[in-house]
Amino acid sequence: MLKGKRILLIVTGGIAAFKAQELIRLLRKHEASVRCVLTDAGAKFVTPLSLQALTEDKVYSDMFSLTDESEMGHIQLSRDADLLVVAPATANILARMAGGLADDLATTVLLATDKPVLAAPAMNVRMWTHAATQANVETLRKRGIQFIGPNDGAMACNEYGPGRMSEPEEIVTAIEALLTTEKPPLERPPLERPLAGKRALVTSGPTREAIDPVRYISNHSSGKQGHAIAAALAQLGADVTLVSGPVGVADPAGVTVVKIESAEQMLAACLAAGKVDVAVCAAAVADWKMAKPASAKIKKKAGSAPPALELAPNPDILATLSKPGPKRPALVVGFAAETENLVANAIEKRTRKGCDWIVANDVSPASGTFGGERNTVHLITAQGVQDWPTLSKERVAMQLAGAIALHLTRKRPAEAAE
Ligand code: C5P
Repeated sequence: MLKGKRILLIVTGGIAAFKAQELIRLLRKHEASVRCVLTDAGAKFVTPLSLQALTEDKVYSDMFSLTDESEMGHIQLSRDADLLVVAPATANILARMAGGLADDLATTVLLATDKPVLAAPAMNVRMWTHAATQANVETLRKRGIQFIGPNDGAMACNEYGPGRMSEPEEIVTAIEALLTTEKPPLERPPLERPLAGKRALVTSGPTREAIDPVRYISNHSSGKQGHAIAAALAQLGADVTLVSGPVGVADPAGVTVVKIESAEQMLAACLAAGKVDVAVCAAAVADWKMAKPASAKIKKKAGSAPPALELAPNPDILATLSKPGPKRPALVVGFAAETENLVANAIEKRTRKGCDWIVANDVSPASGTFGGERNTVHLITAQGVQDWPTLSKERVAMQLAGAIALHLTRKRPAEAAE
């Protein structure tokens, strides 16, 4: 599965650096090519010569080496790989990555890369559990850095607990999973604000369908994913209207937010937003509303049966916005939250609703998606299915916004020929 893949392995200064050598051997056995960046501290544990022998390639260490820069500039080094792996990743490099430092070749390459990054932490148990390290890891996770380990076990410093670097076999498995599932439309859009001049509509959160003035039907949607998408589209320059049901998350900056409660109100607000270039329906719209909501609180009567709630279907906002016509957005994106047969149901939903793309996500209780910070999605388009790795909801949003920008700014063949 790794045949022909190019791994840039960054070896930093920890006792586990000796395992980097076994990792290289395994990766080469899987027919991947490996190029190494060795930090100064890393060179205290393994020699450039041993890494060079194992990779059969030059080992890069010096940020200011004229020879290295003329052969392979550090930016090219950071991009000329399918995946960057930091193994071992010490507390120090994690802190420097989280802080965005670029004070040696390893951190510069990590800051400049547009490729996925996998880190295999290795450090003393107290360093790993320290609030500073945990905060750095959280920051990095939010930015989409993937982690493997650390494992529990006896440590070189005679302590026991989490901090041991994952075994090379485990790291290879993680690399395989990343490289075979991440087929991101992640090529960063060519311009900083590629969606400038474009209008976007995003729905987010749950809807509330009144049973009576004090009770309602709703669901667990937190609005985190929809709000993150609105924020990401705005970051890329779009003029964004976010139509949101009741949520606990803050309004994203630079976005026009329209707050509604029911599905009917959500539809009306979407239509009132006028013509947009892209609509993303991330809201968990209640499928049913009360056929006739009670105008006064329904009273409990001793001895009588509970009231039967007569329901009626809600309008389908996604299907309505997808209808062909002059007002149809150039791109309509729906979500499919499923607990089983995720991809098959989502493919069917794309056709049934008439939208262009479906972002399918597993919302079974075990997935932790509802209300959680992370999301595992599949992007379904007319061209096929892309399986994205588990990412933070912000990263899913950025990746989706990037894909939208590419789609909306892509030149049609006729224009491209001009
Ligand atoms: O039919 P289902 O609820 O599974 O479809 C999910 C997709 O359709 C989501 O994009 C959701 O925002 C949208 N939807 C909608 N209006 C509805 C029901 C769903 O826009 N009434």
